[in-house]
Amino acid sequence: MTTRHDGVRLGDAPAVDGLSDVERLGVDELRAVQLERLRWTLRHAYENVPFYRASFDAAGVHPDDCRELADLARFPPTTKQDLRDNYPFGMFAVPQEDVRRIHASSGTTGKPTVVGYTGKDIDTWATVMARSIYAAGGRPGHKIHVAYGYGLFTGGLGAHYGVEKLGATVIPASGGMTARQVQIITDFQPEVIMVTPSYMLTLLDEFERQGVDPRTSSLQVGIFGAEPWTERMRVEIEERAGLHAVDIYGLSEVMGPGVAQECVETKDGLHVWEDHFLPEVVDPETGDVLPDGEDGELLFTSLTKEALPIIRYRTRDLTKLLPGTARPAFRRMEKVTGRTDDMIILRGVNLFPTQVEEIVLRVDGVAPHFQLVLTRKDRMDHLTVLVEARPDTSADRRRGAAAEIRSGVKEGVGVNVDVEVVDPESLERSVGKMRRVVDQRPPA
Ligand code: DLL
Repeated sequence: MTTRHDGVRLGDAPAVDGLSDVERLGVDELRAVQLERLRWTLRHAYENVPFYRASFDAAGVHPDDCRELADLARFPPTTKQDLRDNYPFGMFAVPQEDVRRIHASSGTTGKPTVVGYTGKDIDTWATVMARSIYAAGGRPGHKIHVAYGYGLFTGGLGAHYGVEKLGATVIPASGGMTARQVQIITDFQPEVIMVTPSYMLTLLDEFERQGVDPRTSSLQVGIFGAEPWTERMRVEIEERAGLHAVDIYGLSEVMGPGVAQECVETKDGLHVWEDHFLPEVVDPETGDVLPDGEDGELLFTSLTKEALPIIRYRTRDLTKLLPGTARPAFRRMEKVTGRTDDMIILRGVNLFPTQVEEIVLRVDGVAPHFQLVLTRKDRMDHLTVLVEARPDTSADRRRGAAAEIRSGVKEGVGVNVDVEVVDPESLERSVGKMRRVVDQRPPA
């Protein structure tokens, strides 16, 4: 049993003895594998996807121009709009009869982006997911409760196949029916839960509503992703649930969950499974490649995907690349705390919802449930932070909490916002990805 610095008992992280051969590669060996796979991917995309042929030709590059990994920077990036323009199947590089599965990302506006997998792609995905779950502390023989949504979203099925590949037992709960989820966790005794961090909070509230202390549950590890969450949220969840909270990252266009995973023994950012996904970080304005260690927008190139090879995909996620630790050959990406399109520009100041999360979770008397409402008054944008009070918070403390959050945002971000501490249970709850920002501004 390990005890955190703050006295929370989490149980020991399991011993790491079952790494795959790939995870033990040296950097030079890994780079050689990447180059060979990259050259294959560029040729495969060029020969089989008219979009890539046209975009490489327009940029004056050919797959044969890639002689070393750095040559990738000469190839044009791919955007979400490119996938939309080729809706639904125009980006597929194999005949339809070779596609075994389709997923799609919902997309709040416009058409969804559609992605496809061959049988081999599904096996690759299961392999990186199994590797991710192992890195998180899941082991063969564990029972793993999957509360990511099943369906066109990649979360549920992606996790599901990974659990089976690991040799663990999957409990395919999907999202929703929260009271029943708590019942199932209590009765089936899973060691691991896979769910969005915001839905985990909903589940924790439900545990407490049913009079069950979640720290007494069988859960030892939570694998949380699909949306940004902060170090403060890790502390909140670890304390309330008594489990190790680790981060998992991925996106449909690149594969789904399992592109990068935080290791439970270090909890220091996410190791990118670079034998399948080659990361770059670029300046979001100019598109220039930045050296490791610098903040920018994350790009991915798939290295083994057959049905949907993706070249230099602009994720819009902001992070930086760091050297490997628990898996030394694999670079880490820092926790993603914002997307270029989640950024609120308020009177010239950039603000990410995660910055507000960090502040809200520091303040006594409020729950970790908050929402950002954007309005326009007198041609000026205003942001109101709605935060739920905890059930026993006095009116006085509510006022105090509102003032602390307001000054926290002013000092930390440099902008004035309104803060309203609202009644418990009055804000929308997550059953999957949480919608943090409600934009009530009239269209420009
Ligand atoms: O959210 C895949 C996934 C499912 C990842 C389950 C992890 C767990 P999409 O719906 O295509 O795929 O959304 C991808 O979600 O570009 C990020 O902006 C965000 N995202 C995913 N994981 C994280 C994370 C899935 N760990 C988009 N931290 C990505 C921050 C994340 N943001």
